[in-house]
Amino acid sequence: MRQSYDDLHRRSLADPEGFWGEAASAIDWFKPWDRVLSPEGEFPRRWFVGAETNTCHNAVDRHVLAGRGDAVAVYYDSPITGAKARLTYSDLMDQTARFAGVLKGLGVTKGDRVVIYMPMIPETIIAMLACARIGAVHSVVFGGFAANELAVRIDDSRAKVVVAASCGIEPGRVVAYKPLLDSAIATAKNKPAHTVILQRRQAKAAMTPGRDIDWTEAMATATPQPCVPVKATDPLYILYTSGTTGEPKGVVRDNGGHLVALAWSMPNIYGMAPGETFWAASDVGWVVGHSYIVYAPLIHGCATVLFEGKPVGTPDAGVFWRIVEEYDVKALFTAPTAFRAIRRDDPEGRLFRQYNLSSLRALYLAGERSDPDTLGWAESQLGVPVIDHWWQTETGWSIAANYPGIELLPIKPGSPAKAAPGWDIRALDDDGKEVAPGGIGALVAKLPLPPSAFPTLWNAHERYQAAYFKRFPGYYETADAGYIDADGYIYVMARTDDIINVAGHRLSTGAMEEVLASHADVAECAVVGVQDPLKGQAPIGFLVLSSGVNRPHAEIAAECVRLIRDRIGPVAAFKTAIVVDRLPKTRSGKVLRGAMQKIADSQTFKMPATIDDPAILAEIEAALQLAGYARPS
Ligand code: COA
Ligand code: AMP
Repeated sequence: MRQSYDDLHRRSLADPEGFWGEAASAIDWFKPWDRVLSPEGEFPRRWFVGAETNTCHNAVDRHVLAGRGDAVAVYYDSPITGAKARLTYSDLMDQTARFAGVLKGLGVTKGDRVVIYMPMIPETIIAMLACARIGAVHSVVFGGFAANELAVRIDDSRAKVVVAASCGIEPGRVVAYKPLLDSAIATAKNKPAHTVILQRRQAKAAMTPGRDIDWTEAMATATPQPCVPVKATDPLYILYTSGTTGEPKGVVRDNGGHLVALAWSMPNIYGMAPGETFWAASDVGWVVGHSYIVYAPLIHGCATVLFEGKPVGTPDAGVFWRIVEEYDVKALFTAPTAFRAIRRDDPEGRLFRQYNLSSLRALYLAGERSDPDTLGWAESQLGVPVIDHWWQTETGWSIAANYPGIELLPIKPGSPAKAAPGWDIRALDDDGKEVAPGGIGALVAKLPLPPSAFPTLWNAHERYQAAYFKRFPGYYETADAGYIDADGYIYVMARTDDIINVAGHRLSTGAMEEVLASHADVAECAVVGVQDPLKGQAPIGFLVLSSGVNRPHAEIAAECVRLIRDRIGPVAAFKTAIVVDRLPKTRSGKVLRGAMQKIADSQTFKMPATIDDPAILAEIEAALQLAGYARPS
């Protein structure tokens, strides 16, 4: 008899070493582990202690060694530039080995950090795998971030080398990366010794002799490098994500646990077999891109699609369906916002019907809450299960999901279904007591965390402990709030911190406030995330000007919008700043951001008992109405 998912999950909690030890047989190890899991009492507990492996070997070389060198590893499709390419596993091995040689030639060795500031092109995957090959630690920075954010990451990781392309491509504009990189290096305290620049034909980067190396020239003379053994517990990458301050958190991923968790997920969560095509329509700059554009499909021997385009406008809302048909995609993974964009442009789903979508077995959504309406629409258009699953940069794979490879659990719209193996999720009240089924609480995971979950924050182990493990001892605090129903289905409803989710991108309102506060005319400010029909949430800023400032408010607001774009990047999607006389506060001086957000969204809310002056809320409402918000529908 087949095992039920619930039985399997129970076993993963009762016998984690047995469960993950078995799952680890999907991976090639150079040296076996001494222990599957380090002993109780250690913090954090580590997976596959003593083992040695190499992530690039598992993602690339072993498939070639097994005779699958001619199988496609990467389909690259760039609808704006018209470029298409396919790389076999042999191609990927050759180029990765060669680029590892380029890095080695620049003095990069095991443990050194390499920042990768690249768009959605095959060379990005090659650069990531080349780092893994020689045990260097990559840190990919999303192209939509500004020079300042890049500088922060170069400094914090103390990168020895930065690998970049001359440009990224956005609809209607070419984003020149090199001037941003030059400016980031100019402001960074840690100056990388070298950059390696891939010149794309859409923009030619000016090079600094001696420091900047041309990718193509360097590849021509590089000596290919083998995969070096690294410890399972050695870092594979650092991925910076928004924290509650302007200082991003460097989430560290290790090699062994990550390999095992991703290998487990491919057949069981995504129902994939080696040789089939998997497509995560995300960006390599985000965790979903790391795990499901690059590592997991390749570890499992699938073909991955690298799509340098948008769900709409490149050229139309049918592009996803063209890709599914052209590459025989079996499972598609994207963010609900992409589907809202497609629905806006193709409400009747005409474009779906112009393509043969019979290959598609399921659609996976994550990155933000899947509203039941979007989920239902997607399901009615595609006629396949639409599976919501819950993720964080910190975890590297699903915390909760559905498991068609084992058993497709009944879909409950609004819920990313049940906890993944090794995840023991509870909803706790403020006193740390479990709430009854259906009751809202802080969603936490009982320790130990399963493989792939982050063992630390780069150079910030105290922050790691304080931010995630202090409030509820014995648990990991996800900073998401929600509830668990009587059947064990998890509902993720909101963040408990100041993180907002804009078009599936995680952004910190605190970081935006730090930027606004640096404007010479701004005395005080607050940023909140308001509802947005396309992007889920959008940030808006409230500005209180310094006394004596009498320049036009619209001018100052426009400067603030520009400041956030220049300092954080276009991805912040910060378009609205509103000047107000005062901010609503509690008697102890805490800004009531939640009240402002509810007013903007025309929602009812309970007047905080501790509010200092309730009259301010009417002023805020009037200012919001002038800006087009706070209008009951
Ligand atoms: N490099 C440079 N700029 C970028 C960028 C990149 N890699 N990615 C986004 N930007 C820019 C956009 O061009 C836009 O600039 P603009 O203000 O000049 O128009 C800005 O950042 C905001 O981008 P975004 O929020 O993505 O809005 P959009 O209107 O360009 O696109 C969607 C809206 C819904 C189509 C798009 O957000 C999308 O495809 N989302 C899917 C999200 C996703 O994959 N998330 C990953 C988690 S699974
Ligand atoms: P990131 O670290 O950028 O992947 O963002 C993680 C955050 O996105 C989570 O903490 C949630 O707030 C949100 N999120 C991701 N997936 C889901 C989901 N399926 N449902 C609800 N929220 C989600």
